[in-house]
Amino acid sequence: MLVRVGNSKDVAKGQMRVFDVAGTKVNVASADGHLYAFDDTCTHQGCSLASGELDGTTVTCACHGSEFDVTSGAVLGGPAERPVRSRVVQALGEDLLVEA
Ligand code: FES
Repeated sequence: MLVRVGNSKDVAKGQMRVFDVAGTKVNVASADGHLYAFDDTCTHQGCSLASGELDGTTVTCACHGSEFDVTSGAVLGGPAERPVRSRVVQALGEDLLVEA
């Protein structure tokens, strides 16, 4: 199920923003002209990935440098070993919708 989390213009190009989706912090990233959504909590020790850096479609955790592919949630570099959950995201008119 997709739920409205905000306005479709809420996430600027090349930026990340965190939304609450049914009690879970979900990061929406605007990367390479697309929107991607994934759980914001790093699977290493729980830091917010939104505090890290987005470079293309790779987000680097600010705490210990784990890297994740924002398009899939896959780990690209440790110390994290488990992916973050990737979620469907859609801009529909003025609405920003994320998979709950
Ligand atoms: S909490 Fe993200 S790399 Fe350690």
